[in-house]
Amino acid sequence: MKVRKKPVEVFSQWVETGKDEGMEKNHRKAVEAMLAYATKELNSFAFIDAGCGNGWVVREVAKAANCKSAIGIDGSKNMIAKAKKLDPNNTYIHSDLLEWIPQTKVDLVHSMEVFYYLENPEELISHINDYWLSDKGRLIIGLDFYTENKVSHSWPEDCGISVMTLLPIASWETYFKIAGFKDVRSWQLGSKDGWAGSLIVTGVK
Ligand SMILES: C[S@@+](CC[C@H](N)C(=O)[O-])C[C@H]1O[C@@H](n2cnc3c(N)ncnc32)[C@H](O)[C@@H]1O
Repeated sequence: MKVRKKPVEVFSQWVETGKDEGMEKNHRKAVEAMLAYATKELNSFAFIDAGCGNGWVVREVAKAANCKSAIGIDGSKNMIAKAKKLDPNNTYIHSDLLEWIPQTKVDLVHSMEVFYYLENPEELISHINDYWLSDKGRLIIGLDFYTENKVSHSWPEDCGISVMTLLPIASWETYFKIAGFKDVRSWQLGSKDGWAGSLIVTGVK
């Protein structure tokens, strides 16, 4: 059996080989749909990307005229170093998501393909509701690794990652509700034969 490494170690290695750039290509469709949904009723908004990788989503969102501020946070040193090099204008922070609190609360927290890298994702959902979001602020997350997407079950072994928490759609929704989110919704985007789609889960504080 392959030795498994911590998620942030694996993603730092991805930067060394340029594999981080493939995530922009693979996640773009789902991310664009998530952002379109989450920003459609916002006037001016402050934004955080939780687990921003090399920061490509922060750079996209910051282009919107109604975006007041855009922050990316990631636990991989190499991802944050790359994000800062590519973009001196926005803020990128190297920290574990559970250990960080923004100075000012924000209107929208977005995250793509990150929450299942935590042993207890419900802690992060509550942490964001308690400390990151302003009243009526929204959390929206995208996940490809979940119980109903059977093809994803082999990824921890395939990628050699030590923590990948496999949960059904109902548990993700329940964690949002327990954390205090209202108007909790989920849907699967782009499902086709052998692929259950990207699971999107969202709720409002
Ligand atoms: C699959 S990548 C997704 C990156 C980015 N969201 C994208 O779509 O390109 C997962 C990211 O989550 C970060 N990550 C995983 N666990 C983390 C944690 N506990 N704290 C901070 N970042 C974490 C990794 O370093 C990695 O950059």
